[in-house]
Amino acid sequence: MKAYRASLLWFAPHSEGPVRALFEEDGLLVVGPNASGVQVVQAIGAYSAVVHQYPGVAVEHFPGRIIAPGFVDLHIHYPQANVIGSPADGLLPWLENHTFPEEKRFAAHEYSAQAATFFIAELLRNGVTTALTFATSHTESVDALFAEARLRRMRLITGLCLMDRNAPADLLNRASSDGRVTGTEQSLRDTEALIQRWHGKDRLGYAITPRFAPTCTDAQLRGAGELAKQYPDVWIQSHVAENKDEIAWARELFPQSRSYLATYDDFGLMRHRAIYAHCIHFDDNDRDLMRETGAAAAISPTSNLFLGSGFFDYAGADRVGFRYGLASDVGGGTSFSPFHTMLGAYYVGREGQTKQGLSLNPQHLWWQHTAGAARALGLDGTHGSAAVGNLLPGCEADFVVLNPGCTPLLERKTSRAANLDELLFAMIVLGDDRLIERTVISQAA
Ligand code: GUN
Ligand code: ZN
Repeated sequence: MKAYRASLLWFAPHSEGPVRALFEEDGLLVVGPNASGVQVVQAIGAYSAVVHQYPGVAVEHFPGRIIAPGFVDLHIHYPQANVIGSPADGLLPWLENHTFPEEKRFAAHEYSAQAATFFIAELLRNGVTTALTFATSHTESVDALFAEARLRRMRLITGLCLMDRNAPADLLNRASSDGRVTGTEQSLRDTEALIQRWHGKDRLGYAITPRFAPTCTDAQLRGAGELAKQYPDVWIQSHVAENKDEIAWARELFPQSRSYLATYDDFGLMRHRAIYAHCIHFDDNDRDLMRETGAAAAISPTSNLFLGSGFFDYAGADRVGFRYGLASDVGGGTSFSPFHTMLGAYYVGREGQTKQGLSLNPQHLWWQHTAGAARALGLDGTHGSAAVGNLLPGCEADFVVLNPGCTPLLERKTSRAANLDELLFAMIVLGDDRLIERTVISQAA
């Protein structure tokens, strides 16, 4: 057992109604092993109330610091760290001219391994302790990322990018080396082998990963849907309704489906633990489909602003009531920092909103990148799952130590904050990796 004394930020258990952040100026966070030997939160509250319950437990003191849940990034591409800041006329030319050429390099194990080392270190440096991430269409890239995440004990979910048409030849899933099995069939066999190799090992999870409908044949989407049914606790990730040209292309390729989103449903790819990036250009039937299937949206504001894709409709999502959380979407997205993403979400939330809507509230912004994102992933402790993104008792002990005095301006603004909302807003608007003094990952016995 170990205890940490600092100001504490966490979230009240979520039911219906507005999200509520909790704050303890002089708090104590006690962590210790659960029945499986994993470090989880044992107690959280005011120092004066909790300290007596744990006599003899070593206390590490962080004066002037804030301990908060580790951030959860719902959608990021590990092969795209080098692609950040590559301007293009829109999504499709950006993929063709910047992204695909870089992703080709991940066929080499050594290239994947060095990129994985950089990527995991960069997430942790920015306070991200759980991530759902794309790899490339090469199994080498998946193995390299899982191996590195396991070494750092990060909670990481990834999978082989499924792409068997409409991309450069050296990015399409490869046929078997003897040529007897097609790329499509081999990609499904590789997916199953990777699920068995990595899913549920330590803190790793597998995501069945059709890149997006336009680069997958019917046969590949059908096979992916069958695997999703066979392995119900595995995740699914893809992209949808990001860009008008992409949508027109998807509609041409799958005219029998009611909408682009419905294409995924038609192949059995919408369910609990299915995360769709972007979800910008939706109608209410699409929103209903998200809610009814339990799928969740990964909102990627810095990417949507950089690529000119559009604005996620928070009012529509909240009216219909489907799950969502925040994501960096590096390298369409411009930053690994959750603070930049939360600020982008604020800008996007303002679009078309005349009143102070739910999504513009700083507590709600922060929740979308922590407990809300964990809930979208099904990692909120319900149905026997692990819980991350919060510091309630039982949550895995992943947290960040924030230094609100890390820059002169942050020091000035945070010290003048009259209430919790002002404090959170100061950090959301002015924060970046300098705010993250330390990232602590839950250890195992
Ligand atoms: N749609 C298909 N692939 C991608 C990708 O790599 N990034 C983004 N932003 N959208 C996509
Ligand atoms: Zn993406």
